[in-house]
Amino acid sequence: MAETDVGPKLKLALVGCGGIARAHWRGIKYHAPRIEVTAVVDTVRASADAMSERIGAPAFYSLESALAEGDFDAVDIMLPHDLHEEAALACFEAGQHVCLEKPMAHTLASCERILEAASKVDTVFFIAEQAQYWPDVIEAARLIGEGAIGEVLSARSVFYDVLAVGPDDPKPWRFFAERSGGGISIDGGAHWIRPMRMLLGEIDEVIAETRAHTPRREGESVALALFRFESGVVASFEAVEYEGAIGPVQDLRVTGTHGELVSVRGRDGGMTLYNPEHPDGLRVADGFPGRADAYGFELHDFSLVVLDGKAPEATPAHSLGEFRTAQAMYRSAESKRWEKVWD
Ligand SMILES: NC(=O)c1ccc[n+]([C@@H]2O[C@H](COP(=O)([O-])OP(=O)(O)OC[C@H]3O[C@@H](n4cnc5c(N)ncnc54)[C@H](O)[C@@H]3O)[C@@H](O)[C@H]2O)c1
Repeated sequence: MAETDVGPKLKLALVGCGGIARAHWRGIKYHAPRIEVTAVVDTVRASADAMSERIGAPAFYSLESALAEGDFDAVDIMLPHDLHEEAALACFEAGQHVCLEKPMAHTLASCERILEAASKVDTVFFIAEQAQYWPDVIEAARLIGEGAIGEVLSARSVFYDVLAVGPDDPKPWRFFAERSGGGISIDGGAHWIRPMRMLLGEIDEVIAETRAHTPRREGESVALALFRFESGVVASFEAVEYEGAIGPVQDLRVTGTHGELVSVRGRDGGMTLYNPEHPDGLRVADGFPGRADAYGFELHDFSLVVLDGKAPEATPAHSLGEFRTAQAMYRSAESKRWEKVWD
């Protein structure tokens, strides 16, 4: 597409050039035509320089210097959770539009301070949760709305993940509970909580067991929970992280009175509908464009919210739901009782 076809572009700084920044950059390149990355920031010079070389945007070695000298109107903050608040507040103060990777922060108090600060500025505040844009889940939500599986009876959401660090790596920031705010549920598990909320509505309360078995990770690496939705439907959630091999996983399954929607390719996405018209299954969503592309879809949405005043697919207050659900799970694992998510 020629540059003139897309209208004005949003000049964006990538803040934090670690693991997820590469997925964001790929998403911007292929799916966010109205974003131009004009700065990259990382306190580790080698990380900033590598991203700068990849993108062709100038590198900065502190957020402060980028805000003072850089040429951008929005930031995409991809930092350890305990640094979200300080960075977001500095960017609001500097008049920047802010896209902030989930979770909003490492504690509820910190999330609330960020929301309070965002409410006092005119710029956009947006939380990046790419599961909101997973094409197979969007299609499943549409089909449920059309009654394709009848009345929803139950659901299952499963996240199995291989540990991203080797045995000789130093303890990374996400392994400190004080820095990350928890374990697997607050981290990758959150992306399997959002689809449940998209398909079944809001979660009212949870009961959970957790276990920390991964060496060096202080937060939980195994979480098993039941979620009771405001509709009364009860669904299960599993999140497990370990260093072994992972077998096939049906990671999302929604059962209704007439049929089911099943994600048969696990984390690659893709959805199959089973009902009386399609007893052998009808493929209703493929893996491409798929979940890996959703980082680009979310950042494109951010650009439309800033440039065109579009409403975001999910507000920051809504995006607190995964964090609150994980926190309720942690309380439940202690209390051995159902715990409310939003109280
Ligand atoms: N949506 C997803 O699928 C997904 C996946 C992984 C991580 N995340 C989220 O992305 C965020 C970052 O996680 P990550 O896995 O990329 O972490 P990471 O550790 O790989 O990257 C963080 C980067 O921030 C840099 N950094 C640290 N302090 C800094 C500072 N003060 N100023 C500038 N740069 C600084 C580090 O050098 C590092 O390069 C977290 O919020 C995490 O939950 C989301």
